[in-house]
Amino acid sequence: MQQLRRNRRLRTNEAIRSLVREHTITPHDFLVPLFVVEGKGIKEEIPSMPGYYRYSLDLLTNEVKELWSMGLKSVLLFVKVPDDLKDNKGTEAINPEGLMQRAVKTVKEAAPDILVMTDVALDPYSSYGHDGIVEKGYIINDETCKVLAEMSLSHAQAGADFVAPSDMMDGRILAIREVLEKESFKQTGIMSYSAKYASAFYGPFRDALDSAPGFGDKKTYQMDFSNRDEAIKETLMDIDEGADIVMVKPGLCYLDIVRDVRDAVDVPVAVYQVSGEYAMVKAAAEKGWLDHDTVMLEQIMAFKRAGAHIIASYFAKDIVKLLS
Ligand code: PBG
Repeated sequence: MQQLRRNRRLRTNEAIRSLVREHTITPHDFLVPLFVVEGKGIKEEIPSMPGYYRYSLDLLTNEVKELWSMGLKSVLLFVKVPDDLKDNKGTEAINPEGLMQRAVKTVKEAAPDILVMTDVALDPYSSYGHDGIVEKGYIINDETCKVLAEMSLSHAQAGADFVAPSDMMDGRILAIREVLEKESFKQTGIMSYSAKYASAFYGPFRDALDSAPGFGDKKTYQMDFSNRDEAIKETLMDIDEGADIVMVKPGLCYLDIVRDVRDAVDVPVAVYQVSGEYAMVKAAAEKGWLDHDTVMLEQIMAFKRAGAHIIASYFAKDIVKLLS
């Protein structure tokens, strides 16, 4: 038979390729993680995350204004807590004058319409570097949920639009939702890290916040990377408990999960391209082994193709610069 269908006709030049392109990347896709430290005049590069920085509050202001001017309208805040403020109860996490609470206000003052999400988990505040309260070597669930709920309330009171629990305790979404409702923060949203795997890709992030676990690992609360169906169970439970947005984390190794979740839920799906994924691209590009920009774009597009509505990525600024 004569060849009638030729797929290459639709690839002839950039005009036709862009006309039939199924997915596009825009600044609206991104959630920008920001690392905040105490002090003044600090913009320090994270050694295992080249080109990514921790900011003190005074310099955070400029950074946030720049993001806003680039069309990046959502940030996800993380804080590096001084050692002497760490304990096993998350005391500092609920301090109304704590670094996170002040950071929320600083960001809102710099860009009043920016969307502020806050990380909710005890690891940066924990003397053990774990996401919850430790008792006899175990991370105790229900007591941790109570602190996470108080922490979320304190972030909401500081002005956070969304809280983002990244701890993987059971029932924390419900605990947080109940407190927010009771205290008249009905509009404060929850983005749940619902399918968060125990991953070695978090290494550079733990350098950034000095939050590596002091003993053991996080496998008794974060998910086993051998599991796929479990991601749906976790995600549906979080939605039942009141999650407005659900998340899959890490990103690239978990694109199957992103697609499964997208097909299973009716809420927006976020994916987190984590610190180790960023570090790999930077390191390979530094050695001249990969082309930084095209690899970065290819990876971000993979998240869109897999079905993510929201992408948390350390590449957000790089991408927007490249697109414009
Ligand atoms: C902690 C938290 C982690 C990340 C986000 N929140 C690390 C962990 O669970 O150990 C990782 C982000 C990244 O690697 O970029 N609750």
